[in-house]
Amino acid sequence: MTSYKELGLVNTRAMFKKAVKGGYAIPAYNFNNMEQLQAIVQACVNTKSPVILQVSSGARKYANSTLLRYMAQGAVGYAKELGFKIPIVLHLDHGDSFELCKDCIQFGFSSVMIDGSHLPYDENVKLTKKVVTYAHKYDVSVEGELGVLAGIEDEVSAEKSTYTRPEEVIDFVSKTGVDSLAISIGTSHGANKFKPEQCTRNADGVLIPPPLRFDILAEIEKKLPGFPIVLHGSSSVPIQYVKMINQYGGGMKDSVGIPEEQLRKAAKSAVCKINIDSDARIVMTALVRKTLAEKPAEFDPRKYLGPAREELVKLYEHKNINVLGSAGKAASK
Ligand code: G3H
Ligand code: 13P
Ligand code: ZN
Repeated sequence: MTSYKELGLVNTRAMFKKAVKGGYAIPAYNFNNMEQLQAIVQACVNTKSPVILQVSSGARKYANSTLLRYMAQGAVGYAKELGFKIPIVLHLDHGDSFELCKDCIQFGFSSVMIDGSHLPYDENVKLTKKVVTYAHKYDVSVEGELGVLAGIEDEVSAEKSTYTRPEEVIDFVSKTGVDSLAISIGTSHGANKFKPEQCTRNADGVLIPPPLRFDILAEIEKKLPGFPIVLHGSSSVPIQYVKMINQYGGGMKDSVGIPEEQLRKAAKSAVCKINIDSDARIVMTALVRKTLAEKPAEFDPRKYLGPAREELVKLYEHKNINVLGSAGKAASK
């Protein structure tokens, strides 16, 4: 058993308390490789932002769980080396079983999500409670989920979303003891969050999605005042990078994300963790395509992954400063 405390990581408890009180959200960025992790750490140190590093079970399969664990430990040292010690959480994204959560906790994760959102309510409660009981023995925080997001979450995929039912949240939180709750208010995973027929188009033909259900969020906040709420599926799918991908041979169609103003509004509420993965994938793909198209003879991966990493730093800095409001919120030097 390796405790996350030995690795220099923190759990989410103090971080979320400050974020809810301060009206901002902590960035939860997924990573699968070194360049993404370097960019996340650089951007969060540059903007003095706390950060949650997220690892999905797909990422564990892709990159190897031991390597990812040591990379997260390395992130703590790298941040210090860059000159500012920021709080860093290592979080399991969309854990789908007790065994996976247990394994991650033993491996040094400081936070886990148990996603029982696709299960019948009572089974979700039972599974989540089991994970909480185990995790809390090691001071590891747990995120549960109520309501189903449309899109693909690892092996779990849902055609349609089901909004969180505010009447269930008090019962769920008190029965399970979770530290935070992911809810469904209209966000979804991936780069095609809404079908074109669900959207309107502006004068330039750009798809404008329907607004998030802030009424549901407000009802949930009324039931659970000050309780940490999490938003998944919160990429904005920046049109300039989608265009870049398509300009250099890509084929992304009808991509649409969550407008930044809506995420900013959510971050000012009890939403204190905002999950972003797809935007980083899009930026990386756009820059790799552009560089390879412009330099067809290039075959050194550093020459096309380097520019992608630089652009990722800009993306994460922009999110921390202008969308989540987390810039400047990491306390210590
Ligand atoms: O919610 C899903 C995350 O974007 C992780 O995606 O399972 O393809 O690693 P992944
Ligand atoms: P996006 O696909 O919108 O980036 O959402 C990521 C996510 O929710 C990870 O859990
Ligand atoms: Zn998610």
